[in-house]
Amino acid sequence: MTSDTERFAPKPELRDLRPYEPGLSVEALRRVIGEDTRIVKLGSNEGPWGPLPAAADAIRHAVDGLNRYPDGAFHELRARIAELTGASVDQVVLGNGADSILINLSLSLLEHGDEVIFGWPSFITYPISVRKVGAVPIAVPLDADYRYDLDAMLEAVTERTKFVYVCNPNNPTGTYVDRQRLLAFAEALPDHVLLVVDEAYHEYVTADDYADSIAELILGAGRDNVLVLRTMSKIYGLAGLRIGWGVGPAAVVRAVDVVRGPFEMNALANEAALASLTQRELLEERVTANEAGRTELEAALRDVGLTPIPGAANFVCVPLDGGLTGRAVADALQQVGVIVRPLDGFGMPNAFRISVGTPDETRIAITAIRTVLPTLVD
Ligand SMILES: Cc1ncc(COP(=O)(O)O)c(C=O)c1O
Repeated sequence: MTSDTERFAPKPELRDLRPYEPGLSVEALRRVIGEDTRIVKLGSNEGPWGPLPAAADAIRHAVDGLNRYPDGAFHELRARIAELTGASVDQVVLGNGADSILINLSLSLLEHGDEVIFGWPSFITYPISVRKVGAVPIAVPLDADYRYDLDAMLEAVTERTKFVYVCNPNNPTGTYVDRQRLLAFAEALPDHVLLVVDEAYHEYVTADDYADSIAELILGAGRDNVLVLRTMSKIYGLAGLRIGWGVGPAAVVRAVDVVRGPFEMNALANEAALASLTQRELLEERVTANEAGRTELEAALRDVGLTPIPGAANFVCVPLDGGLTGRAVADALQQVGVIVRPLDGFGMPNAFRISVGTPDETRIAITAIRTVLPTLVD
């Protein structure tokens, strides 16, 4: 008799996939180290602040109407995003997090054997979402400065290439592709390839040479093979509600809508997103605090002899020397209540990633790193 794990195993091409391993949660660590130590969660690139006050109010108000299904077309939210970006409503795509847009793109557009190119190490959902539908992930190594190697990615394009991901800034390295390189890449890419610019960390970037890709690539240059993705999970502090959006060709939006579940985004997420998107000036404080926290964190890491990669987002990536693994560092920090992300799953076993927290959290993390690191390298 066959066991249940054999009878109900995923189809053969998925057998070696493992369930997504999220960063360690506060509750899970609390069970291990107990109640006495303060836990600081810096492992998942979340914003350290909660929803904006208007979003929290909107959520409270919407609770009483939860007996009703949300507007399945999410017309008002699409209209608001269109208004804010200058796109038309039919160019706006929504998802239960940017993650679900990535998965729906694969589900709708990819046929067996189609190829999808992305830099590596980069966001884990790219290869996983492609593999899930029997298409072929083509991972192109980052350059020596941990940046997307766009020339090598162009060389990897074939007749079977359906889309190309540019993660900008890149998770987990924090590096970004500048305007000139991004525009030249879009220009050089053949028309049959969809360029997906994943800008989950867009709002944090302050560099002058970082492109506003919706304005410059889609609206300005009028490209009909570019999709730009954003999320409310990071700077807006709404990771727990799950809402992502994007602007791109109306045909791609429609293709995603075809496979999207009827109510994939929920009513609370809808209200919170509507309220947040009108409060963009409040984000400035968060951007400034993030910049200060990242600078402090990078300096402290250099101070203990590490070489963090100069980043542009709300996290810092730290490659390690001498055979030290990111997991060893993460395990040791965990014991003193600080959660960071080992990067073996991202293809960087000798590195870890740490998010910028509130000033208080960042200082606790720095003290912990100063204490723990010498015990690992001696
Ligand atoms: C590069 C990148 N894209 C997309 C996402 C997914 O964001 P969401 O929470 O909207 O699904 C993340 C989340 O960490 C990310 O790092």
